[in-house]
Formats: sequence, structure tokens, C-alpha cells
Amino acid sequence: MKHKDILGLYELSAEEIDEILTAAMGMKKLLRQNIKRLPHLQGKSVTTLFYENSTRTRCSFELAAKYMGAHVVNIAAATSSVQKGETLVDTGKTLDAMKNDVIVIRHPAGGAPRLLAETVKAHVVNAGDGMNEHPSQALLDMLTMRETFGSLNGLKVAILGDILHSRVAKSNLYGLRKMGAEVRMFAPRTLLPSGLDRMGAVVCRSREEAAEGADVVMGLRIQLERQHAGNFPSLGEYAKYYGADESLLRYAKAGAVVMHPGPVNRGVELTSALIDGGASRIEEQVLSGIAVRMAILFLLTKEELA
Ligand code: CP
Repeated sequence: MKHKDILGLYELSAEEIDEILTAAMGMKKLLRQNIKRLPHLQGKSVTTLFYENSTRTRCSFELAAKYMGAHVVNIAAATSSVQKGETLVDTGKTLDAMKNDVIVIRHPAGGAPRLLAETVKAHVVNAGDGMNEHPSQALLDMLTMRETFGSLNGLKVAILGDILHSRVAKSNLYGLRKMGAEVRMFAPRTLLPSGLDRMGAVVCRSREEAAEGADVVMGLRIQLERQHAGNFPSLGEYAKYYGADESLLRYAKAGAVVMHPGPVNRGVELTSALIDGGASRIEEQVLSGIAVRMAILFLLTKEELA
């Protein structure tokens, strides 16, 4: 990796994304064989520093680091000295002084991982910053698509939901476009940021237009914690007019798959029939998540090990 840190897919090249996905495919093979005792991070320390809730991302970074032999410390801001007024930069300096090699950070403010990365010697990995980016999520989505279809080039990916607040949508847009995929987006107008077309997305007028001939239909979580402006009338109406169900999947290509970064608001973004049906790749995404995070941690630190 040329970069000290992984802050977003906006700044990674197609070659770097390919390098991570290729390494992750190797890691996933090992995971499928239940091999979880690897030497790649022996003698390294990884700290997860989470200022927001998480199940998948925090747990899979921790497991990824442990499967490769690292020492792992988990800090939740709610139970740390952040509550006593310590700044992000001072927290980072403290973790640096403890000889941490990698800090994985989730923060409600876009740009917080960059500020931390500019301050500490440790490698910083963005595990989701505000409405900005969630690079490891998009990489695990891309790994799942690449394994399903063999290549990302030429894939048609329909992303439906709360695009305005979604760091997952933005990272997927940057990454998928660099890898040659078409990214269609559909949401209520109140949940569509302006300028998506200039960022390379095809903005659709209906969910059917987005799903027509698509290889992937991806639902996004309605971020109830970020809905202060009443962007849609009710969850029931959202599900009816903007969510995905089995009838929508008929517009997609034969063999199309259903994805969601999780956590899912069941029956809102996707019906239970889609979540639990044969086209769903949601559980596969979770396994891809550990493999991608193993690849990221290994590639960031491997030169130092040589
Ligand atoms: N997809 C995702 O980021 O999930 P968590 O919030 O559970 O980490």
C-alpha cells in the first residue's frame, strides 16, 4: 500500500482497490477452511476507537486482528476519558505513546479519521465517519460482488435508500465506478444529495428504473438516528414506495443478488422474503467483512514486518 492510512475510497486507485480485494479473497479462502490462527500481525497492536455504536464493523476488525495474531484493545468513547473532555487528538497521542500500530476509528464527524491520521504515527483506518465514507464496508461489498460475478467491470448496481446520510453509498459509488461498474441510485428526493450525477452515479426516477437489468439490488439502512428533518412521512410509507420487495427483483437481471450493509430495518428497506431469500448475500457480506479487514490490516503493516 502506498498510503499510511485507509481513510476513504475517494483517494484509493483502482490498482490499490484490486490489491486489497485480491488479498481479501485469499483471506476468505482461509476463513472458509476455518483457519483462524495466522502469523501476519504477530507482535502488532490494534486498537478500535468507536465514538458510535457498531456490531459488524467493530467485531469484524477485532476478529480480523485476532485471527492474525495481533494484540487488540477496544475503546468505546462512552466509557473512555473522552467523557472527561479529552480531545480526539489527545486520545490519539495517548494511543501512539502506547505503541499502537493501527487505530481503527468510527466517529460521527466526517473528517475525524483524517485529523487523527495527521496527528499520530499509527496507521489509521476509517470505520465510518459521519456522512462521509465507510471504506471497509464498500470493499466488503465489492468483494462479495466480485466473488459472485467474477468481475466488477460492467456490473449494474442499484442502490436504494437513505443516500443523503449514507457513508456506505458514497464509498460504494467511488469504489465501484473506479472498478468499471455502473451505479444507479434511487431515494425519496429529500434523501438524495445534489451532485450525485457529477460523482458518477446514474440518478433514477423510480425504484423500477434503478432495478431494471441490475445485477445487484442494494438496500441502505434508514438512519433513524440522523432523521431530524422529517424526510419521509412514515416507515410504512417508506417501505411501500421506496423499499425493495420480491416484485421489484423481477425487474433485475436473472441471477441478480440482494445486498444490505446492515443493520437492516426488517420490512422497511427490504422485505423479510428478500433478506432471507435465495438471492440474499447479506450473510456472505458479513464473512467478506472479516476477510477485507484482515487484508487491510495486513497490507498496511506488512512492509514493517519485512
Ligand atoms: N454496516 C455497518 O457498519 O454495521 P455496524 O454499524 O453494525 O458496524
